[in-house]
Amino acid sequence: MTLRLGIVTSHEGSNLRAIVEAWRTGSLDAEPRVVISNNRDSGALSFAREAGIPGSYLSPTTHPDAESLDEAILHALRDHDVELVLLLGYMKKLGPKTLAAFPGKVLNIHPALLPKYGGKGMYGIYVHEAVIAAGDKVTGVTIHLADDEYDHGRIVAQTKMAVLPDDTPKSLQERVREREHEFLIETLQKLSLA
Ligand code: GRF
Repeated sequence: MTLRLGIVTSHEGSNLRAIVEAWRTGSLDAEPRVVISNNRDSGALSFAREAGIPGSYLSPTTHPDAESLDEAILHALRDHDVELVLLLGYMKKLGPKTLAAFPGKVLNIHPALLPKYGGKGMYGIYVHEAVIAAGDKVTGVTIHLADDEYDHGRIVAQTKMAVLPDDTPKSLQERVREREHEFLIETLQKLSLA
């Protein structure tokens, strides 16, 4: 059965692009039904427009009240008949109504081996700087259920990869990003078959 995805994101949308490509080429049976972003200028929203996927800009600017923002996000997901919500680089937390409406059906992806290197402020290059500063030899990607804490919730899937001796935060970020895309598709494909 084709998984009906709702994507909630803030930035570039490279994971969204990977999903759309895999869906269109037939290697993934999951269809992005709506893209929601709290950033009007996000690459993810402009890509969604180009790709013909409904996009919604929903943020504290459009909905200054947290409860009404939560409800607007929930309505957008319901209006598009979403069954699985993916937080792909979403820099905020989902509200309680949306979380309660999708129990066990909201996933976040994080470019490190949680529970290490997660939480507020641990995003983008900061994650990889911390991995290298700690001298870790292994890093990876984590996909987990989202809850009301950043980068918290039951781990659904994790993949490991080596930190190379000459890695810089930037080189590590690029390698993890590539693996992240593949791993997201692999994991979604398993879920679509489950
Ligand atoms: C990814 O690295 C993801 O792990 C993290 O935010 C980034 C989003 O990238 N949570 P993109 O917007 O999909 O390019």
